[in-house]
This record gives sequence, structure tokens and C-alpha cells, in this order.
Amino acid sequence: MNVSVVGTGYVGTTLSACLAELGHQVTAIDVDETTVERLNDGGAPIHEPGLDELVSAHAGNRLRASTDHAAVVDTDLTFLAVGTPANADGSIDASILRAAAEDVGAAIADETDYHLVVVKSTVLPDVIESQILPAIEAAAGTSEGETFGVAVNPEFLREGTAVEDFTDPDKIVLGTDGDGRALDLLRELYRPLIEETDPPVVETGRREAATIKYANNTFLAAKISLINDLGNVCKEFGVDAYEVADAIGLDDRIGERFLRSGVGWGGSCFPKDTAALRAAAESAGYDPLMVDATIEINERQPERLLELLDSHVDVEGKEIAVLGLAFKPGTDDIRGSRAKPVIEGLLDRGAEVVAYDPRAVGEMAEAFPDIEYADSAADALADAHGAAIVTDWAEFADLNAEFDAMADPVVVDGRRIITRREGITYEGLTW
Ligand code: UDX
Repeated sequence: MNVSVVGTGYVGTTLSACLAELGHQVTAIDVDETTVERLNDGGAPIHEPGLDELVSAHAGNRLRASTDHAAVVDTDLTFLAVGTPANADGSIDASILRAAAEDVGAAIADETDYHLVVVKSTVLPDVIESQILPAIEAAAGTSEGETFGVAVNPEFLREGTAVEDFTDPDKIVLGTDGDGRALDLLRELYRPLIEETDPPVVETGRREAATIKYANNTFLAAKISLINDLGNVCKEFGVDAYEVADAIGLDDRIGERFLRSGVGWGGSCFPKDTAALRAAAESAGYDPLMVDATIEINERQPERLLELLDSHVDVEGKEIAVLGLAFKPGTDDIRGSRAKPVIEGLLDRGAEVVAYDPRAVGEMAEAFPDIEYADSAADALADAHGAAIVTDWAEFADLNAEFDAMADPVVVDGRRIITRREGITYEGLTW
């Protein structure tokens, strides 16, 4: 099939490269000329394992990039994979998506063939009817069902395993309404993938598909917040929350994954999606108690880590090491990172922060230019009066003699990555 993908960010590039790998002819469209050039030269604009290889294998052949939306005319369907940033109240700003929908509408204005627009960006159900459809209709000069249709096909890609998550998904969600043309096109698009890995295909309505994405992420965030809440209770009981989690995870109905309690979740999806769902539910007149608690527990964990540190050392005027700045290991992404509230809390207490991360120092230095950054965990720990562990980078598991160089060897571990040993005052957040 001929496919266009509007947006060459994280989701758009992964989607474009993976669709080309499935055998489709893909045109990636973006207003950013540098990214377009880079893709045409065979390089991925973002770092994701396996992505560079796919882009370089297909660039100039099954994968082309362009700044011109007119390219969508020659394709059977167009994905909208642009950003939906958050407003201050947590609701999503759909203006970029609306503009992309208008561009696609304008491009198909004189066409008589049916064109399917597939929303890949994360949107709440109302956004489809209130913003995307009217934008395409106004620009195309036709109504839905005449020369175009709109479908919703959310993504469930994790950073660091996005290519793998696309090629071997837990499920494919196809949200369509109307006369069946949209569903036929989407089934055809995913046919090679379905034949290869046989994932469950959820064929549903558009509003349901949009909601599934929010519910999926909110449920996962809630699972972590619940194990964090239980973990805090375990800590009060003097019980090891990890032993408890391992045992309850053996119950199939609970499942063993996402039961690692600690300093909380971050990233580009969980914080944004939980906040947007809460804002949408509230504006619909419903008070979503569990979603509220999910977010509140996540906000509380960094402060609990700091209180644990306070219980062993007065940090005012002292050097404190913060190990781990990325929201999870394997990335330089600091969006929603729990290191931010940890650093803020330390600065509020008058501590001198020395931070280290294997990859995210540059990113954090933009947010906190005035703290000190070390080149290694050993450098950050040397002469420190305490250390807060925020991200579970594997290299932190090897730290040992480095703690001996601390002025005061107090370690509060928000991720259960440090090995408890003689000679250091070690506190796990939930164990
Ligand atoms: C997530 C979803 O997994 C993915 O399906 C969605 O499309 C985007 O959001 P990602 O943000 O890449 O993906 O991160 P993920 O690996 O899911 O981890 C999210 C956060 O939860 C991280 O901060 C991680 O440290 C934390 N986490 C995860 C825990 O604190 N405990 C756990 O047991 C698991």
C-alpha cells in the first residue's frame, strides 16, 4: 500500500520505518526540513534501538520524506502522528493536530478517490468529532463518508523498545465508524504483521479506540502507584515490599510486571495521559478518584525519599549526590523524571546537589543549570553527605567501594538497585 505519515517525531518515525519494513511505500511528512533531509539521507532523527537500521535500509526506496503535504494525494491513507502537548490544566492542546488535519484536507480537496485519515496521536474521543473532522471537512470541502474517512489507531510503544513493540505488539486497536471502507484499509495495512505475529486485533469504534489508549496507560500508572502505596505501608510495617510484590505477582489476575515499587513513574505518556484523562473526566462532571490518587501518590514518592534522607542527615549546606536523572534507564529523556522533584526538594532544603546520569546530564542541565554535574557516579559520591538513587541504571548495581569515599555514607535508594552492605547506612524507599 501507499501510506503517508504526518509527523516525524518519535511515533511518526518509528511508524514510518516499520511500515516500510512491512513492505509498504511510505512518505513521511514534516514541516521540519532538517528532519526530512536526515530521513532521506538514511538517518533516524531520534535514537531508538533498531530504528537507524530500518531507516537506512529503506530510505530512498520504500521510505521517502517530504515537507509537502500534497504528497498525501498519491497515497491510500494518511497517519496523523503529531504531538498533542499538555496545557497547564492537564488538558491536551490539539492545535498541531488540527493544523495537520487541515493540511491533509487541503491536499485531498480536489480528489474523488476515498482517502483514509488515521489518527495515531493520542487524543480524547471528543477531539475527533470536535476538532479533527471539522478541520478536514472545511479544508477538503466535503463531508466524511464522501471522499474521506477518519479512523483511530493508537500506539503502545515504549521508549527503548519501540521497534520491537511495533513488530511484536500485545494488540492492535483499530477504531473505525461508518461503512467499512476504513476497516478494510486498516486490515490490509496490518495484514503482513498479523500474518507474521498473529497479535489480537481489537476492532472497535473510534471513541472506544481513543479511550483504550488512555485507559491502558492510566491502568499501568495506577498499578505502579498502588504498589508504591502498598510499598509505603510495607516500609511502615518493616516489611520488604519486593517480597510481597513477588508473591502477589504470582496471581495471574495481578501479573508480575509493573510491580516494582519506588520513587514513581515518569516519561512522555503516563504523566500527560493521566492528567488529560483527569481533566476530561472532570470537565464531563465526574470526579475520577482512582486517577487522582494515581497522580497524587506519584507526586508524593520523591518527597518520601527525601524524608528518608532527612531522617539520617541534615542536608542543609551539605553536598548530596543524585544518581539517575532520566525517567527510566536506557534513555536521555527527562520528561516526568522523578529526579526533578528530588533535586527541587534538596535545593529547597539548602543542599548542594551533585548529579550524575550516564546519558541525561545535558538534558537536566537545561532544567537545572546551577547545580553541579559529575562525570561518573564515583565523582558524584566522593565527599557527599548522602546519596539519592532515582533511576535504576544497571551500572549503579556495581557501585560498592565508591561509597567509601562519601563524607557520610547515607544512601536512600528509590529503585532497589544498590546492594545493601556493611559500612553504609542504606535505606530502601519501600523495603
Ligand atoms: C509507557 C507505556 O509502557 C507505553 O505502552 C506507552 O505507549 C507510553 O508510556 P514508557 O513511557 O516508554 O512507556 O515507559 P515504561 O517502560 O512503561 O515505564 C514508565 C515509568 O514507570 C518509568 O518511569 C519506570 O521507571 C516506571 N516503572 C515501571 C516503575 O516505577 N515500576 C515498574 O514496575 C515499572
